Amino acid sequence: MTRIAIIASGSGSNAENIAKYFKGHAEVHISLILSNNSDAYVHERAAKLGIPSFTFTKAEFDEGKEILEVLREYEIDFIVLAGFLLKISQPLLEAYAERIVNIHPALLPKYGGKGMYGDRVHQAVIDASETESGITIHYVNEHYDEGNIIFQAICKVEPDDNCETLAARVHALEYAHFPRVIEAVIKNSIH
Ligand code: GAR
Repeated sequence: MTRIAIIASGSGSNAENIAKYFKGHAEVHISLILSNNSDAYVHERAAKLGIPSFTFTKAEFDEGKEILEVLREYEIDFIVLAGFLLKISQPLLEAYAERIVNIHPALLPKYGGKGMYGDRVHQAVIDASETESGITIHYVNEHYDEGNIIFQAICKVEPDDNCETLAARVHALEYAHFPRVIEAVIKNSIH
C-alpha cells in the first residue's frame, strides 16, 4: 500500500476529488492532509472524508522536523501538493526525492513562480490575451514550478473569460486528470 499525504493551502477541492478517487483503492491510500492555514476549507473536507488533517506554520514547513515526524508516524510514501502556496523545504525534498508532485493551473513554464497561485495565475493568463491555458503536473524541486513535467492538458481561453470562468475550466481538467496521473506515477515509481 502506498500512503499519500496531500498538502493544500485553501479550499481543497482537488484534495477531496483525489481522496474520493482512491477510496477503497487496493494499492493507494490517502492517509493525511496537511495545510499551512488552520482556517482552510480543506480541513472541513478532510473531516467529512475521515482523513486526519493538521496545520503547520510557515516556519515549521521551512524547518521540516515536525512535519517529517508526522509523515513518518503515518508511514507516508508519497506527497501530493494540491493548491499549496509555500515552497517545499530542503528537508522534505531530501526525504521525499522524486516522490512529491504538484499541480499548477497553467501551462508551465509560463505563468509559474513565486506568488503565482490560483486566481493570480488565471488573471495573468487573461491579461496576456492567451488563447490557451491548462494544467501542469510536475515533480517538485527546490524552485517554484520548475521540476520535471509529468503531464499537461490544455483548455481554451475564451475572449470573454474572467478568473472565475477560466478557473472552472481548469479545475475540470484537474479533476479529470490529477488522480489518474498520481496513480500512474506511483505505479511506475514505487514498487
Ligand atoms: C488549483 O487550481 C491548483 O492548480 C492551484 O490552486 C488551486 C487549488 O484549488 N495551485 C496553484 O496555483 C499552485 N501554484 P483547490 O484548493 O480547490 O484544490
